[in-house]
Amino acid sequence: MRNKEQLTGFLLDHAAQRTVSFHMPGHKGSGLYRRFGYDGFLNQMMDCDITEIPGADNLFQPEGVLRSTMDRYRRLYDSRESYLLVNGSSCGLVAAVMASVPAGGRLILARNCHKAVYNALSLAGAQPVYAFPEMLPEYGITGEIRPEEVRRCVAAAPDVSAVLIPSPNYYGICSDISAIAEIVHDAGMTLIVDQAHGAHLKFFDENRRADGRCLMAAENLGADIVINSIHKTLAAFTEAALCNVMSDRVDSDELEDALQKMESTSPSYLLMASLDINADLLEKHGGELVDDWRKELELFYDRAVSIDGLRVMTHSRLDDSKINLDMSRRGLNGYELEQELRKRGILAELITGNLVMCMSGIGNRRNDYERLYEALREIAEPENAAAPACDRAEPENAAARACDEDETERRNGMAVEAPPWPDQSFVLHPVPRKRVRTPIDDAAGRVCAQAIIPYPPGIPVICPGEEITEEIVTYAKTLRALGQNVMGIDGDGCVLVGV
Ligand SMILES: Cc1ncc(COP(=O)(O)O)c(C=O)c1O
Repeated sequence: MRNKEQLTGFLLDHAAQRTVSFHMPGHKGSGLYRRFGYDGFLNQMMDCDITEIPGADNLFQPEGVLRSTMDRYRRLYDSRESYLLVNGSSCGLVAAVMASVPAGGRLILARNCHKAVYNALSLAGAQPVYAFPEMLPEYGITGEIRPEEVRRCVAAAPDVSAVLIPSPNYYGICSDISAIAEIVHDAGMTLIVDQAHGAHLKFFDENRRADGRCLMAAENLGADIVINSIHKTLAAFTEAALCNVMSDRVDSDELEDALQKMESTSPSYLLMASLDINADLLEKHGGELVDDWRKELELFYDRAVSIDGLRVMTHSRLDDSKINLDMSRRGLNGYELEQELRKRGILAELITGNLVMCMSGIGNRRNDYERLYEALREIAEPENAAAPACDRAEPENAAARACDEDETERRNGMAVEAPPWPDQSFVLHPVPRKRVRTPIDDAAGRVCAQAIIPYPPGIPVICPGEEITEEIVTYAKTLRALGQNVMGIDGDGCVLVGV
């Protein structure tokens, strides 16, 4: 099982490396469960991997043990109903759209929605009306969806029944949900918030409330359906998520019907148990865990300002559990900074342009933040640091090895400017019915027939029906040259365009 070329071997090798995780999932490994007494579950996981035996309840007609987990979440999020999701927020988003938009209808959605929402459009047979996020040119990323932009869309498409926006976005920037909810509700529409990255916000808001700061959790701000990836920032296993219904604008029968269509008929009891353990943790230790998390973040940010050449992203609506770092003043773009961190055993979540996003979670501990701080200091101020870990003759771990390979590739002439998020004001055409594969070099001026999606973040840079620009061609090629996974471009460098 130690063959690293095979999946299980790779995973065991990774687990043995004890890298510092500033990426998903939020539990960051078994330490959290063990610390709070859930090791019995970890030790007997295989024996807990059951199906609907007597007494185990049924996810799609919950009346027993699953109902009681749902009730815990209803209390934690103050929701009318909380549905456990075993196919991630992805299935919750699809179900929410199917339940809120009639077949063939239209949906107002933020243009920077995740791929899962675009899947929802296609599965629900719905047409998009785009609300565009503001751009943050100083960081080269998308920011919040402004209430005025939602107002513009609502006025332009009054027949629409629902609006869907991500908040926070991948970088942690939240939108003004309370103002948006007012506009949406005045127009008689339903507000769905993709809070995949903000399951913890409801609990962070307790701190914010105490300090008199504005709240961020969509559950506190008037959204009707809020979908949370518990696995991304809290303590459930990957794919375990939650759909919170907050108002009677939602047709629960429709939503339940759509959820059971989108989820496995054999939902994993291990995933659902991890949701139960997460609820237990939050009920019994949530205050302490969240306080510690906030304190560690504050300490990290306080110390990071002193690192010469490091810019830490700030924004009035930033969920600062996402740590966005920029070391371009030291001549490092995001890819180079990420590599430097990886050499030091620290794995980040996302790179865009010069930014590296390190995603903290409930399972991170002081040592992780200290390692991140020390690594950044070492990278920014090598004169003050001991020899960097990358100078090792023999890389010890998978992350460092992969990093050395990347480094070699880069030295072999791959060093490329890391581009900011490209302009999204496309010329629009009908979505092509007939499609053909064409080399991306010849694609400018053609109509996109299959979205091009850098992953992560999983947000399409161009969608079907939009006219491909030179900027998009350059952007997609550059990301590939930098080694990023770009969906929608095949191994031969071709994309699908309309005929
Ligand atoms: C903004 C956003 N929404 C939704 C999703 C899908 O969530 P999940 O991975 O829980 O299916 C993601 C995944 O990364 C995401 O980034």
